[in-house]
Amino acid sequence: MADGRPSGLAARLKNMVSKPEGAPAGAPPPPPPPAAAAAPPPPRPAAAAPPPPRPPGLATPPPPKPAAPAPTPQSLMPQGTPLAGHAQAPQPASTLGPATAGSLADPFGPAHPRQMEFLKFIYEVRDRLSMEINAAELETLNEADRQSLLRNGIMQVTDQTQAEQQFPMSDEEKKIIVQDVLDEIVGMGPIEVLLRDRDIDEVMVNGPKQIFVERKGKLTLSNRQFRNNEHVMHIIHKIVAPLGKHVDEMQPICDCRLADGSRVNVIIPPLAIDGPSITIRKFKKERLGISDLVRFGTLTQEMADFLDACVRGRLNIVVSGGTGSGKTTTLNILSNFIPDDERIVTVEDAAELQLRKIHVVRLETRPPNIEGKGEISIRELVKNCLRMRPERIIVGEIRGGECLDMLQAMNTGHDGSLTTGHANQPRDMIRRLETMAMMSGMDLPLKAIREQIASAVHLIVQQSRLQDGSRRITHITEVQGMEGEVVTLSDIFIFEQHGIDENGKIVGKLSPTGLRPRFISKLEAHGIHLPASIFVSKDGSGF
Ligand SMILES: Nc1ncnc2c1ncn2[C@@H]1O[C@H](COP(=O)(O)OP(=O)(O)O)[C@@H](O)[C@H]1O
Ligand SMILES: [Mg+2]
Repeated sequence: MADGRPSGLAARLKNMVSKPEGAPAGAPPPPPPPAAAAAPPPPRPAAAAPPPPRPPGLATPPPPKPAAPAPTPQSLMPQGTPLAGHAQAPQPASTLGPATAGSLADPFGPAHPRQMEFLKFIYEVRDRLSMEINAAELETLNEADRQSLLRNGIMQVTDQTQAEQQFPMSDEEKKIIVQDVLDEIVGMGPIEVLLRDRDIDEVMVNGPKQIFVERKGKLTLSNRQFRNNEHVMHIIHKIVAPLGKHVDEMQPICDCRLADGSRVNVIIPPLAIDGPSITIRKFKKERLGISDLVRFGTLTQEMADFLDACVRGRLNIVVSGGTGSGKTTTLNILSNFIPDDERIVTVEDAAELQLRKIHVVRLETRPPNIEGKGEISIRELVKNCLRMRPERIIVGEIRGGECLDMLQAMNTGHDGSLTTGHANQPRDMIRRLETMAMMSGMDLPLKAIREQIASAVHLIVQQSRLQDGSRRITHITEVQGMEGEVVTLSDIFIFEQHGIDENGKIVGKLSPTGLRPRFISKLEAHGIHLPASIFVSKDGSGF
């Protein structure tokens, strides 16, 4: 690329900074005038336009201020520009124009037949531009000027490259290309448009050629692609480097949280066989509230009232479910039922909970450093939080030995604790708790562990992600105690699936089973009185 072109573009771009888009300078961007046409006299073949002093699209307008303090041909791309955070990204996806079949504008339609050509073109523009602009210089500008400078620069270089290569594209495609180059420079490349889309909750990159998203609860394959593994790695470095992290063959796994709260997991070859994988769980600014869950049919108003009473009445509750079933969301909502005057300590692997409470101390684990040292586990944090005079302990998710510490805390005066765990049925949750308690390394007999569980945990809230993408609380189950060697459970509310309607939606009913929980007296001791009707099915059938 270094074909001896003077790198005065930066200076010219700078002159353009505050001018409106597409205004004076490179304004009437002579759309695709083949290089030859732009330079009539010397009849040179279009393609062979190697070292003309000024490339066509840029040749005329600005006063020749030739070699200004010649910005060094320092690449913008590699580590230079920190991840700008997709929150500030310039334009919502919706401005990219109407989606047509195979258009570049729709990440979910059929792929554009020339998608790879466009990607190559985007790279070309990006590389040319990065030789022209000095990253350090860009840093000195405010965000708006920076965006505007880049956008104008990209438009110029796009016109120029298009003319040189006689690369056909429509105006709409050009608009998208400009946005894509901008995303490549200040954002996360091909996935930036997905991160901006508010309907998308999760973005999953499975190697360069496959990018799935979760949209409205459904997994959907997008048509976005990276060029190759190196391109994915480049974006991975852009994500992790500003967080002081590094990913390479020696350290092929990385978990991190972006400045905007989104959670990221990265795993690369040789562990990820088909190419570097990125999973981003986007942070939702508007967390779902209990009324949303009732509206979605995740639970009924009666179940919501019941859970509210259980939290206020200091029951120990485990939210159980598979990955993505909505456990953390439910835990967050339950936590917000805690009375305002109580001191809460939260312990999480990656802080996700957003409690709208005054008195909260949030703790987060620390992974080991490059030498494998310095790890602080959930278990250590749970132990520590017991020394912090908590009135409520909330553990984001229990996965291992910390389970025993949590059970002991629940059994020794820290009632009202909340946590989540991974299981598909309430009974499975009990088994999981047993297994996790055994991981603690304390050599307790199984019966003793079961007794701990039976006396510590009052309630299991079982949540599921159903085939249609909806989330349901399928069981609210009381842990009653022990009978012989067995922990006894009693369902208070359950979901019964009746079938699937013509739109693929699951049809079913959430109802009380008619059984009243034994812990009612504990709630009453806290002055909480639930109407008996809450436990009776609306159609009067019990269940
Ligand atoms: N009741 C619900 N209905 C619809 N979507 C939900 C519900 N609960 C959570 N979600 C969405 O599902 C995704 C996963 O939720 P999360 O609570 O993080 O699940 P988990 O902790 O079980 O992995 C999020 O995008 C969230 O917005
Ligand atoms: Mg979770």
